[in-house]
Order: sequence, then structure tokens, then C-alpha cells
Amino acid sequence: MSRALLARNGRRALPLIYGGRRGTDTLSGVHLAARRFIVDMSYSAHFMDFKGSSIASSMKKLVVTKLSPNFREAVSTQTVAVPTPGDADLLVRNRFVGINASDINYSAGRYDPSVKPPFDAGFEGIGEVVGLGLSASSRYTVGDTVAYFGSGAFAEYTVVPAKEAVPVPAVKPEFLTLLVSGATAYIALKRLGDLAKGETVLVTAAAGGTGQFAVQFAKQAGCHVIGTCSTNEKAGFLKSIGCDRPINYTAEDLAKTLKKEYPQGIDVVYESVGGSVLELAVNSLANKGRLIVIGFISGYQSASGIPPFKGGTLPVKLLQKSASIRGFFLPHFLGDYREAMSSMIQMFAKGQLVCEVDFGDLAEEGKFVGLDAVFRAVDYMYAGRNLGKVVVEVAPPSVSNSKL
Ligand SMILES: NC(=O)c1ccc[n+]([C@@H]2O[C@H](COP(=O)([O-])OP(=O)(O)OC[C@H]3O[C@@H](n4cnc5c(N)ncnc54)[C@H](OP(=O)(O)O)[C@@H]3O)[C@@H](O)[C@H]2O)c1
Repeated sequence: MSRALLARNGRRALPLIYGGRRGTDTLSGVHLAARRFIVDMSYSAHFMDFKGSSIASSMKKLVVTKLSPNFREAVSTQTVAVPTPGDADLLVRNRFVGINASDINYSAGRYDPSVKPPFDAGFEGIGEVVGLGLSASSRYTVGDTVAYFGSGAFAEYTVVPAKEAVPVPAVKPEFLTLLVSGATAYIALKRLGDLAKGETVLVTAAAGGTGQFAVQFAKQAGCHVIGTCSTNEKAGFLKSIGCDRPINYTAEDLAKTLKKEYPQGIDVVYESVGGSVLELAVNSLANKGRLIVIGFISGYQSASGIPPFKGGTLPVKLLQKSASIRGFFLPHFLGDYREAMSSMIQMFAKGQLVCEVDFGDLAEEGKFVGLDAVFRAVDYMYAGRNLGKVVVEVAPPSVSNSKL
């Protein structure tokens, strides 16, 4: 049965959507063959804004077809029918999607070792609701702006369970930076950091997606903040968001600087790099220091995904300092998620939070526009080029904000 004839309770309704009108729109010159128009919503099981958002009949999405940490090898672009949302779902037209270091862990099948390709890629998106199921319509309507943290975001349209959508005031890329990167920093520091005023906090990969937020939240807690990065431009950015001591590790030796300037050690480390940086961070902990393992990006491109770590004497080192190492994985803290999002959205609205976005304006082939730019954006992050959160603009702004 065509979507035009979908009806509630299995009843066959009057055609709700006129389909297949051919010809050319005299105003826009656009060929209309692929568009459909709603004339009556009253019996529809799935409210689809075909007219207002010009939903095409097909879309592009990125699919993991082979398990590999090499994103280009693992992922291919497919053209498929635009999905229909289920009863409790929203169909979101993605305007922006976020790149995460773990996109390559996901494409390597490391999140769920039992997973078999093909499966959809991408963790987060923001856009407009263009269709929704009947139950979902109790809280949402076509034209609403939402963000989400869930799988299958690298697509022109994504079906999102309504209960997982985050209503946002506008489709701004800044809100996208909060979904994974901001939420990770907010919840990890709140739950595991035990930050106290005057403590010293070290953030590694500080100028990146999640690092920028860890710097700001540690500063807001009254801490002295040190941030590592690889360029002077990033160091300048870190200063601008309140980092007391940016360290460009390509220009100065990180170990020597920490030893010389922080002889008492570091109270809290927000650690994302792993390997030798993690070892150094452990050795630099102060008495009662807390090291939060956020990630280990230096190993993600390897076959195992884990960078080498010499941890033989680790228990002794921790005991001698009454220090601790704590792991953090965002999906384990979803109970904190709504509060974190609402608090960060408020901070952003009040001008208390910088959400730096990197669209790749300075990338060789230019800004990340269109779904296929996701491949370049992943390479760009892994070359350490990004300043702030890497974001791809999947689609231009919607021509109409039609509310049905
Ligand atoms: N645990 C969780 O739930 C969770 C959630 C989100 C993110 N994370 C973790 O947070 C870390 C940052 O992720 P993100 O998505 O926000 O990325 P990102 O920080 O925006 O980008 C990665 C940055 O890491 C730095 N880096 C250091 N060593 C690197 C290496 N060997 N290869 C590539 N980059 C290196 C680079 O900055 P410099 O060149 O300036 O050093 C690069 O810009 C990752 O470890 C990720 O897994 C964890």
C-alpha cells in the first residue's frame, strides 16, 4: 500500500496525499515528479510534511558495510527510500550532524562485538521534524526543532524515537555540540570529578569537541585549568575560554612543563588521548588525585583500538597517592542526560558557555557540506586539525517551517 493510503486502525482511508503529480512548478522551476502533497491529515497514521519540507522519495545515508577502524573502508554511501516513522517515532530531516572520535570505533564494531554489518553510522544530529507517528504527535508536531543522540545520524533523514529526542529552541549547530561532547564533560566532571574550588585540573585534547567543555566546566567550578593541544591557534582559543595554562605539546615538552610548574601534582585529569599521555597523567597525579578515563584516541586507528600502556606498577602508584582512576562512558549515565542538556542550553542562552564549532572552513577541500563530507570530516579530526566540535552541514535551511 502506498504511504498515501496509510490509515489508522488498519482502515483504508481516503487518499491523504496526492502523489505523482508531474510537471514543473511555475514559480521555482522545480520538477515535481518526486514530491507528494498532504491534503488532509485527519486519519493519517503517519503525519508527513511532504509539502513544507519537500521530502524526496529517496535519501542518502552512510552504512557500515565492513568492520574496520578505517572509516573510508568501512562505510559506504547508499541511496534508500526515506523511512516512515513508527507510531512513537519522529522522522527528522537532519540539518547538521556531529563527528565523534568514536565514529571509527563504531565502524570497527567495537561498541557491540556481536554486531554484523550492514548497520547505520553516526551518533548525533539536529534538524526538523518532518513526519511523526500518532503517539509521537501528543508531544511533537511537524516543524519542531529537535536534536538527538542515537544511531543512524549520518543520513539525510533519521527516524528517532520521540522519547529520545531533545527539543531545542532552534536548529543551531551549537546545540549539536552539547549532545555528546558537552554532555560527556558535564556529567563526567559532575559525577566523577568531585571538583573543589582551587584544585588543579588537566584536560587533554582540550581544544576539541569534548575538551572545550571540560575546560569551561572546570573553570566554572573555580579550578585552575591546564589544557593540552597541538597548535598555537588552539592554545589561543583555550585562553579565550578561560584555560589558565594552555600547553601546545608540539612546542613545549608536556612532562617537563607539568613537573616544573605543578610540583604538587594534578588533582583531576580529564584524559582523552591514552598511551604515553595517560602514563604521564597517572605519574603527575597529586595525593588523592582523580583521573577520569574519557577515551584513548591515540589507539583508535590501530587494529585493537587500544594504545600501549605500561601499567605494571599502577596499583602501587595509586596506593602511594591515595589516587584513583575512574572510567566514564556516556551511555551509562543517561539518567543524568536531560538535566545536563537543559542546564547547558540555559548556560548557552545566557552567554555562559562557548560551543565552538568547526565546519572545516580551513580544510583543503573546503567546508563540510553534504553527507559525503562526513568522510573528509573524520580524516580532518584524525589529523588533529579541528578546533572545537567537528560538524557537517547535511542540508541547507528548510525553505518552509510549515506546521500542520
Ligand atoms: N567516554 C565517553 O563517553 C566519550 C564521549 C565522547 C568523547 N569521548 C572521547 O573523547 C575524546 C575526544 O573525542 P572528540 O570526539 O571530542 O574528538 P575531538 O577532541 O574533537 O578531536 C580529537 C582531538 O584529539 C587530539 N589528539 C591527540 N592525539 C591524537 C591522535 N593520536 N590522533 C588523533 N587526535 C589526537 C587532537 O587534538 P590536538 O591535536 O590538539 O591534540 C584532535 O583534535 C576521544 O578519546 C573520545 O573517545 C568519550
